[in-house]
Amino acid sequence: MNGGIRISHAKKCYGQNVIIPDLSLEIKEGEFFTLLGPSGCGKTTLLRMIAGFNSIEDGDFYFGDTRINNLDPAKRNIGMVFQNYAIFPNMSVKQNVVFGLKNRKLPKDEIERRCEKFLKIMKIEEMKDRMPDRLSGGQQQRVALARALAIEPDVLLMDEPLSNLDAKLRIEMREAIKEMQNELGITTVYVTHDQEEAMAISDRIAVMNLGVIQQVGTPKELYLRPRNQFVANFVGTSNFLYATVRVKEGRKYLVFDNGYELEMKNLSEEAADGLRVMAAVRPEEFILHKEPTAFRATVHQSSFLGLNTHYFAHLEDGTDIQVVRESEFNDKTAIGSVIYLTMNPDKINILSEDGSHTLIVEETSDNA
Ligand SMILES: Nc1ncnc2c1ncn2[C@@H]1O[C@H](COP(=O)(O)OP(=O)(O)OP(=O)(O)O)[C@@H](O)[C@H]1O
Ligand SMILES: [Mg+2]
Repeated sequence: MNGGIRISHAKKCYGQNVIIPDLSLEIKEGEFFTLLGPSGCGKTTLLRMIAGFNSIEDGDFYFGDTRINNLDPAKRNIGMVFQNYAIFPNMSVKQNVVFGLKNRKLPKDEIERRCEKFLKIMKIEEMKDRMPDRLSGGQQQRVALARALAIEPDVLLMDEPLSNLDAKLRIEMREAIKEMQNELGITTVYVTHDQEEAMAISDRIAVMNLGVIQQVGTPKELYLRPRNQFVANFVGTSNFLYATVRVKEGRKYLVFDNGYELEMKNLSEEAADGLRVMAAVRPEEFILHKEPTAFRATVHQSSFLGLNTHYFAHLEDGTDIQVVRESEFNDKTAIGSVIYLTMNPDKINILSEDGSHTLIVEETSDNA
């Protein structure tokens, strides 16, 4: 396939329910692209439309220059892996992997070659004669991947392939998937509702909510410059505090409701004097001070997580906040202690008061 996947004004309904109203998206050739969003937002629905298993109510789907709306699913040359590793329990690892190849009537030595290749890539070559009931969940998922890859598809679609695995295996498998994808350079669409997994594995991510794409970007772009409140809260976490824009002698300031003023150098034109705004502040974007300063917060819970410690606190006006800092050996911040905070103006994000869009103009320079 040349040119990746292009979706233009896609619409999906189930009966009277509009699940995806109008969705456009471009996935580059060779890219690891993830659909990320909460349960029920339409990720599987969109993936099934790409695969050809769902009707399409409106819009166009292209693989390269070819419109595929009416192309038979079997002719799309797609490899698929799902949550419940549907490998055949009555076939050995090798028989599972070659299954799709036999249907394609490939010559015997080509079947052997591909089987060896993908067993090796997925690091299960020693298990080729084992039956599935003697494999761990992670190994079974490796078989499912080898089987999907053996047909040498143009596109690999994966729907929450790791959600049945325990936490450690999930991390191991996502590294294996990423490595395989790098090696093969296969255009991949991956579905998950786990933001950390999406960040770890993807070149780019589309964040979805209620069938609508909220933002498309690299993990870094989404984390550092979320375009709205939904993204700020779904990719990582954010604290939301209200402030008013003040313009004095050509400079723009945020004035928080407790009087704290912060000069901001990256606000858009829309951020005019007197505008109420929402500041999205990540837990690590607070700066802690020993002496009284802008914000005074009372800690009501803390969690030590090794490298970092999370504090759950409330500000004087009652707003609940989360603060993260690198753990200190002699941390004396007990429950009930008071901490003093300011924030880093280069890092925080400023949104419209309703959280619907960003008021930050600068781009992230993302070479990652
Ligand atoms: N066959 C169907 N008939 C009717 N409604 C459906 C059907 N399949 C999905 N839906 C509805 O479409 C919406 C999107 O479902 P979808 O399975 O795409 O969500 P998802 O983002 O994959 O969620 P999850 O993370 O839970 O898998 C949901 O409201 C769901 O109830
Ligand atoms: Mg789903």
